[in-house]
Amino acid sequence: MKILVLGSGAREHAIIKALIRTGSNPEEITCAPGNGGISQEVKTVNLDANNPEAVTNWALEANTDLVVIGPEAPLVAGVSDALRAAGIAVFGPSKAAAALEGSKAFAKDVMAAADVPTGMARKCTSLTEVESALDEYGAPYVVKADGLAAGKGVIVTTDKQAALDHAQTFLHQGMEILVEEFLDGEEVSLFFFSDGTSVVPLSPAQDFKRAYDFDKGPNTGGMGAYSPLPWLPEGFVEEVQELVALPTVRELARLATPFVGLLYCGLIVTSKGIRVIEFNARFGDPETQVVLRRLVTPLSHLLHNAATGHLAEVNEPEFTKDVAVTVVLASEGYPVTSAPNREITGIVPDTDSVEVAHAATKLEDGKLIATGGRVLSVVSIAEDFHEARRAAYEAICGIELEGSHYRTDIALKVDEVENV
Ligand code: AMP
Ligand code: GLY
Repeated sequence: MKILVLGSGAREHAIIKALIRTGSNPEEITCAPGNGGISQEVKTVNLDANNPEAVTNWALEANTDLVVIGPEAPLVAGVSDALRAAGIAVFGPSKAAAALEGSKAFAKDVMAAADVPTGMARKCTSLTEVESALDEYGAPYVVKADGLAAGKGVIVTTDKQAALDHAQTFLHQGMEILVEEFLDGEEVSLFFFSDGTSVVPLSPAQDFKRAYDFDKGPNTGGMGAYSPLPWLPEGFVEEVQELVALPTVRELARLATPFVGLLYCGLIVTSKGIRVIEFNARFGDPETQVVLRRLVTPLSHLLHNAATGHLAEVNEPEFTKDVAVTVVLASEGYPVTSAPNREITGIVPDTDSVEVAHAATKLEDGKLIATGGRVLSVVSIAEDFHEARRAAYEAICGIELEGSHYRTDIALKVDEVENV
């Protein structure tokens, strides 16, 4: 099967590694545009992944059987619509269905119509409305910009002035603001493959969103993750499938915007039950690195069946009992300031237990250069969290990039509980 993967992050590198590990032929995989790590494993093509016409023309010429869209930007640009119109199987929702991620207000409307449990929220278009909503719900305050903000559109704070300032920044950019009630509990990321009607769950993961240890510092795209979550109650995945994923997919079908691709359910397990905090219309990064590391079932088969409306015929994907941990290495100043390009060294070749998924890297004159932001994810798999953490941290310790930082507490709590 000839597969084109769109994107350039560690998520796309992890998708490609999982495709290969579960039986796809690396010679039949192309990534556009890819990065310094991906280009060492499969062909890369310098194609603008956000240009519907360029992607479609390339895919047609290369006789592509399946296009897998990694990030949200090509979805928003209508790349999946153009590919579908040309008769190419594509794993990634239409621009209209991807609004489930891009517009938090649309997501709230879909959840209300489908009776999906979520936090209370108020839509605001002025600072006065924001202030009265903040007072209504009380501290801690949750303020969200209603648009794509690269994981930086949300603030959770007890400082009312900081909440107002955050709202003001995005109001100035012409965005609507959502003020939400604060939901207290553990966060879970649960992915479903969807073909527009049926859904198939993957294994749950937990993401670490804050920049620094012990959930301090600003929100980021994600600094690490682990999977599975041994502390979840029995039947959790089935409950989310019935309460959240299926009703949402059915509502989108009813609206004539079927969701074909990856439905990312961002959840909080509160004392009153499961609540959705966000949907994404794509694989999560870095959760994908741990979820797909544990996948045993051929990934290309699952993606192709989702893309072509045949998920009902697919058995539930199988995952190993082994646990996976990923730790993200970020460049100096991330997520507040950007760093200059710098050489990165000390990455050792992948083994059966530790691998590196590249994000912001490129090869230049035989050197690997880090280009800022989240640079790479070290991914390890082992029988227990203690060993998975040990191996991941040993590998990341050996990587040298001036000014870089990473969290040291990824999967620490679950490791401690495991060893009680
Ligand atoms: P989002 O982009 O909506 O996932 O929000 C980013 C992060 O902010 C989430 O992963 C949570 O850690 C936090 N967050 C978002 N909404 C809430 C909420 N209603 N209550 C508590 N924390 C939240
Ligand atoms: N890790 C969170 C996200 O991918 O949005």
